[in-house]
Amino acid sequence: MKKIFQDKDRDWNNYYNAIKDRPPREILIMAADMFEKENPVQMNADRFAIDLGSGTGIDTIELLNRGWKVFSSDKEQKAIDIITGKIKDEHKSRLTTAVAAFDELKLGKADLINAGMSLPFCNPEKFDQVWKNITEAVKPGGRFSGNFFGDKDDWTKFEDMTFHTKDEVRNMFEFFEIEYFHERDEDGESATGEKKHWHVFSVIARKT
Ligand SMILES: C[S@@+](CC[C@H](N)C(=O)[O-])C[C@H]1O[C@@H](n2cnc3c(N)ncnc32)[C@H](O)[C@@H]1O
Repeated sequence: MKKIFQDKDRDWNNYYNAIKDRPPREILIMAADMFEKENPVQMNADRFAIDLGSGTGIDTIELLNRGWKVFSSDKEQKAIDIITGKIKDEHKSRLTTAVAAFDELKLGKADLINAGMSLPFCNPEKFDQVWKNITEAVKPGGRFSGNFFGDKDDWTKFEDMTFHTKDEVRNMFEFFEIEYFHERDEDGESATGEKKHWHVFSVIARKT
């Protein structure tokens, strides 16, 4: 029988506490480095990123530290409160936030759309439209960085989450050049200590 991941008892606070000291995600660092390497003259202050499903902002804060303007959103008020509570005063003018589900957002044009371990939590019925909105919002020459869960992940038992095969993920990037693609397919633990099989695709792609 299928189950619901984000049921009424789901408390993202456990996750937020578990990751509070985590560094930014590797692919976000790689993606941000790619911009700086490709155009060292452009100021990061002229770059705009959207961090979708930002959680406690591990990636949002890295982008702010690098000087980017960032729009950070999550459907949990608590997540946005944690971010706004911990950012430095001098970064405040470069951060905008929203408490909203992926499908409720009207995305402006962005140099980078980052979605660290968040899009798999999108309801499958909403995913295609959300993905279309994301691909349209990335500027030509801009990038997407983020993760998708594969069809071998233990959490495929949850019907409110979205999973893809490797081919499906690659096909989603029709209008992009894939610059980095990594598949994790191994037993491990969730951030809150649950043993599970991980099947995760991590992608950085540049819009053509
Ligand atoms: C695993 S956490 C990842 C958080 C952060 N990006 C990170 O790398 O630590 C997933 C986040 O997605 C958010 N989320 C889940 N479903 C969502 C939805 N439909 N719309 C927006 N955010 C959602 C959760 O509230 C949670 O903060």
